Amino acid sequence: MAKILSGKEVATHNTREDCWIIVHGKAYDVTDFLPEHPGGSKIILKYAGKDATAEYDPIHPPDAITTNLPPEKHLGSVAPDTVEKVEITITDEEKARQGRVALRPSLSEVLNLHDFETIARLVMPEKAWAYYSSAADDEITHRENHAAYHRIWFRPRIMRDVTQVDWSTTILGQKSSMPVYISATALGKLGHPDGELNLTRAAGKHGVIQMIPTLASCSFDQIMDAAVPGQTQFFQLYVNKDRAVTKRIVQHAEARGIKGLFITVDAPQLGRREKDMRQKFEAEDPSEVTKAGSDGVDRSQGAARAISSFIDPGLNWDDLKWFKSITKMPIILKGVQCWEDALEAYDRGCAGVVLSNHGGRQLEFSRSGIEVLAEVVDHLKRARKLTFPNEKFQLFVDGGVRRATDVLKAVALGATAVGVGRPFIYAFSAYGTEGVDHALQILHDEFEMNMRLLGAPSLKNVVPEMVDTTHIGSHIVSVPDDRLYMSNYESLRTAELKAKSKL
Ligand SMILES: Cc1cc2nc3c(=O)[nH]c(=O)nc-3n(C[C@H](O)[C@H](O)[C@H](O)COP(=O)(O)O)c2cc1C
Repeated sequence: MAKILSGKEVATHNTREDCWIIVHGKAYDVTDFLPEHPGGSKIILKYAGKDATAEYDPIHPPDAITTNLPPEKHLGSVAPDTVEKVEITITDEEKARQGRVALRPSLSEVLNLHDFETIARLVMPEKAWAYYSSAADDEITHRENHAAYHRIWFRPRIMRDVTQVDWSTTILGQKSSMPVYISATALGKLGHPDGELNLTRAAGKHGVIQMIPTLASCSFDQIMDAAVPGQTQFFQLYVNKDRAVTKRIVQHAEARGIKGLFITVDAPQLGRREKDMRQKFEAEDPSEVTKAGSDGVDRSQGAARAISSFIDPGLNWDDLKWFKSITKMPIILKGVQCWEDALEAYDRGCAGVVLSNHGGRQLEFSRSGIEVLAEVVDHLKRARKLTFPNEKFQLFVDGGVRRATDVLKAVALGATAVGVGRPFIYAFSAYGTEGVDHALQILHDEFEMNMRLLGAPSLKNVVPEMVDTTHIGSHIVSVPDDRLYMSNYESLRTAELKAKSKL
């Protein structure tokens, strides 16, 4: 019978030279792992000899520790009543945050996807807000992603029978109740204890497809297990330098029924996300933050960089052949930003591309996906005689989409569907699964009304002639960036807490 350890015994192994920790009631010897930990050794040493579960859970899938540590470092179960509770100091800031959580407006008062962002910002833990909201450098691309949609205007049609309107579609041959999928966003448990499962449950209820991230906080299998029968899911892949690991992940995903492999191609190195970096500096004494470790990973640059050091910057076009040899799933490149690369992806047999700049989190001054879409459609029509939307080579767009009208603009220009990232993670950070459910319902309602107002009974009727894109490539300073104008402008109101908060 396996030995049951006592908390007291574990507590004696509390140094850098001899470091045990407890996670989910089991003890592990992490001494040799300290220099390898992507988040740095300091955070583990804080819990040396103690129960680290509360710190571990939001960042790691439950099986991360068991898969990363060799079996001889798994020391066995710890008798629960012998483990000393880790004192969690509740700061004044945290108390104030909890006060604000109690003042959230009811979901019926949340009228649009922007409202989720407003409320999430007030009620989320600071670390989560910093990671979710951050974007690269001056965040110009992040703002441009949304602003680009303001440069496209509608040319609706009238006198058409729109008694019945239908905005359902198929994505990579899979049914979807709307031309929207939930894009991959890492570290779901930072915002809510159920993490990505909030998305799975709401997506299942609404017949919407979820793209599961490589860096989910829940394990891949937990997410798959939470799906309802017949629910379609895609998988986002960060390619590991160790191709054996990549192969295992891809083939496991396929065996579990994933219907599309989205390989992220815009992140050979993670972008510089300063909100995330500053949060880290504010939370810890900057003088103590470790600089580059033995593996060359700078641990001082926030959650994003720390968790992504395994991504292979050597990924290149020739790798596609290998991917096709290990899986039959359709392969889609996520993060294409010009027509030349879209054409190459088509010629090399990909099933599609996502025109995306990673929500403005990677290369600053990348153009918006919607602008790139117009260019890609034009070139693929001319160079390869393709028509869009196209069953064999599908175009997706993400970044800055907050309204069904944004989605309909992308569909009119030839996109099969668009990905939405932040709004759904803000929705669950503020309201859990019900928040995501409500966010999807808002989109459904917006589709219904806007399809009628456009004169389009189905998505087939949403055609290029319905949009005026004359100014799509005009990169002028957008209104929100024009500070002089904005200082006189009275802002629209967004959702508010129930009572005026003194916090
Ligand atoms: C917090 C956060 C985490 C993300 N994590 C990933 C990831 O792990 N892999 C990936 O390919 N894209 C990731 N993305 C990018 C999204 O998949 C998507 O491209 C982007 O969020 C779309 O922009 P939007 O947030 O304005 O909708 C992330 C985005 C955010 C905001």
